[in-house]
Amino acid sequence: MSMPWRAAMQQALYGPSGFFVTGTGPAAHFRTSVHASPVFASALLRLIHQLDAALGFPDRFDVVDVGAGRGELLRSLSSRVTVGVSGEPTRSGRSGLIPARAGSPETLTATAAVRPAPFTPASGSVDPLPAAPVPLARRVRFTAVELAPRPDDLPEQITWTNAIPTEVTGLLIATEWLDNVPLDLATHTENGWHYLLVDPTTGAETLGEPVSPVDLDWLTTWWPLPPAARGGPDDPPHTVPDGHSSTGSGRAEIGRTRDEAWADAVGHVDRGLALAVDYGHLRGDRPFGGSLTGYRGGRQVPPVPNGSCDVTAHVAMDSVASAGGRVARCAYSLGSQREGLRALGADGGRPPLSLAARDPAGYVRALAEASAAAELTDPAGLGGHWWLWQPVGVPADGLPSAQSSPTSSERR
Ligand SMILES: C[S@@+](CC[C@H](N)C(=O)[O-])C[C@H]1O[C@@H](n2cnc3c(N)ncnc32)[C@H](O)[C@@H]1O
Repeated sequence: MSMPWRAAMQQALYGPSGFFVTGTGPAAHFRTSVHASPVFASALLRLIHQLDAALGFPDRFDVVDVGAGRGELLRSLSSRVTVGVSGEPTRSGRSGLIPARAGSPETLTATAAVRPAPFTPASGSVDPLPAAPVPLARRVRFTAVELAPRPDDLPEQITWTNAIPTEVTGLLIATEWLDNVPLDLATHTENGWHYLLVDPTTGAETLGEPVSPVDLDWLTTWWPLPPAARGGPDDPPHTVPDGHSSTGSGRAEIGRTRDEAWADAVGHVDRGLALAVDYGHLRGDRPFGGSLTGYRGGRQVPPVPNGSCDVTAHVAMDSVASAGGRVARCAYSLGSQREGLRALGADGGRPPLSLAARDPAGYVRALAEASAAAELTDPAGLGGHWWLWQPVGVPADGLPSAQSSPTSSERR
């Protein structure tokens, strides 16, 4: 029986036999930055140390990973913090057979509604951070927030829960979480916006009711109709499910649920930084044909919401940022992963040849690190993903400054 896409996704991904809560986990089906290279965790560790200093070395420093998969990121971070690693990349990434989920070309051209933030990472070349009076390893608390059950082999220092903890002080991170937050789809007909319904067994769509006032409000604000849909001659009307006439707007992915999910997550941070890493788009550059797709076993497949595959749609990052900003009441910053990682010292660039003569072993190590970072910073792939920096209550005068970093001034 047909149902709204949001309900179908919820059931397919998170129901009793849902795709994400049963089976081996996301890494068996697609490749995220977390899986791609240990350079990602090393860069985040550097960010954690910077944030720790900016917060004045709090008694408890939280690292909360929302949508933690099977805990891969926290396993990596916790093992490094425990042995006192500072965040410098130390080994090369594995090469993977499984491709990343869609790196979106539209993320590369977008320019919109992005404001400067008071907190951005210090570049890798700035002065060393002050020493913590009590080592981070003794103050850090790792929490994985995940709907799937706790993996048997997860290190015991990682807390596993299905709800975001309150009063987070530190870093809340969500990598490729929001694109899996279920959402409704709509199409614009001669009678205005209507929901699209889907049959979960076949993926066949039919036309549903007119969208609710709250979804209409979201669409009007964040998903403007392209000129053709407003009566332009370029895109003649075509038929949508149930024989209605479309105005040429294609399909809209109503991101309100992602806004609400992110605002709720940000609301759990007392002091620190909420960082969302995902593929997405801005208002001036929406994918009017829609971006909904599926992944299974390393392949892109039709998004049939029957529990057999991932069902994902790109994230309206500006709308999410705005919702988070209303809760955080701090300016946010939105840029690419490439920019974010570069600011954290992982730039994917080759080391200078002069290093080879001076320090051959160091040169080989740096070369391995550069190639490990390259996939993460490739603008046509993972490097084109968005990083939304959402600071909460971080004192401006205690913040590391990125003003001297060329990457930070590239913010969109
Ligand atoms: C695409 S995977 C990303 C996993 C990991 N963060 C990574 O980057 O590899 C999305 C994960 O988010 C989890 N998830 C989705 N909604 C969630 C929620 N409301 N609370 C906790 N976890 C959630 C899913 O179960 C899934 O494991």
